[in-house]
Amino acid sequence: MKRIGVLTSGGDAPGMNAAVRAVVRTATARGIEVMGVKRGYAGMIDGDFVKLGARDVANTIQRGGTILLTARCKPFMTLEGRERAAKQLRSVGIEGLVVIGGDGSFHGAHFLSVEHGFPVVGVPGTIDNDLFGTDYTIGYDTAVNTALQAIDRIRDTAASHERLFIIEVMGRHAGFIALDVGIAGGAEDVLIPERPETLDEVVEIVRASAAKGKTSSIIIVAEGYEGGGIKVMEAISKATGLDARVSILGHVQRGGSPSARDRILASQMGYGAVEALLKGISDVMIGVVHDKTVHVPLEETWTKRKDVSLELRELAKTLAL
Ligand code: F6P
Repeated sequence: MKRIGVLTSGGDAPGMNAAVRAVVRTATARGIEVMGVKRGYAGMIDGDFVKLGARDVANTIQRGGTILLTARCKPFMTLEGRERAAKQLRSVGIEGLVVIGGDGSFHGAHFLSVEHGFPVVGVPGTIDNDLFGTDYTIGYDTAVNTALQAIDRIRDTAASHERLFIIEVMGRHAGFIALDVGIAGGAEDVLIPERPETLDEVVEIVRASAAKGKTSSIIIVAEGYEGGGIKVMEAISKATGLDARVSILGHVQRGGSPSARDRILASQMGYGAVEALLKGISDVMIGVVHDKTVHVPLEETWTKRKDVSLELRELAKTLAL
């Protein structure tokens, strides 16, 4: 293998640049050239490639977002789109590909590998942490800490005004961020898609907490829970008459300089991806489980489900006493 490509795809996540850097420097150290693919699969279809040497990724390990740019690309979901993309890769001599992204990006990578025999390795980059086969995904740790800082600030206002705050955090289908920040932020309740608590039950929890003498509380809602934070706030206000407020943290959770943990994880995974391609391993995601690098078939990352910890769910409930 003389030349490989690297791209970032789907939602950006802090630490993606650290992963790109690790791919470029590991490959360069092994005498392999790297081409960056701009704007994910959209740039691949358009042939938007840029040569990346060791110096081109200097000063990027601490930067949020992705220097390669990213996109969610509909044409790549079609046979024709992938055919065109594979031709573009081959026309510039790219013989293997590292795809940094979430499950949507991995679907695309898997089909590229199956339909065109193209060597592909995935690196999990998403703040949602919802990919099977790895303890953590790149960006998750930073997102949790960003959300937690915001929650601590909102708590000041909640306490001062003796108010109930409903705070919505990201997580389209998963409650990993919500559960972690719920425990670390001392929330009254954590509402996640994996444990569909009914709105009536939530209202009961709010009533019980007021009866215990609590004058201010925070409820964390994952965006994937029922109708999200606004629906929860409306249900509580209607049933209790409380002057509750809702705060949707949104994309602030995706930005910012990656934490040390995310930089290290991204470096380990980017390195692992190049090593895997060189060993002829393809159609896998690089995971890190108990600090060890593992190879997980790409298909398993979305067909198998990573569950939130039952122990943490129980802990969140108990400590909300
Ligand atoms: O998958 C990461 C994520 O941040 C989800 O938590 C969220 O639902 C989604 O991306 C938002 O995507 P967009 O940036 O396209 O609005």
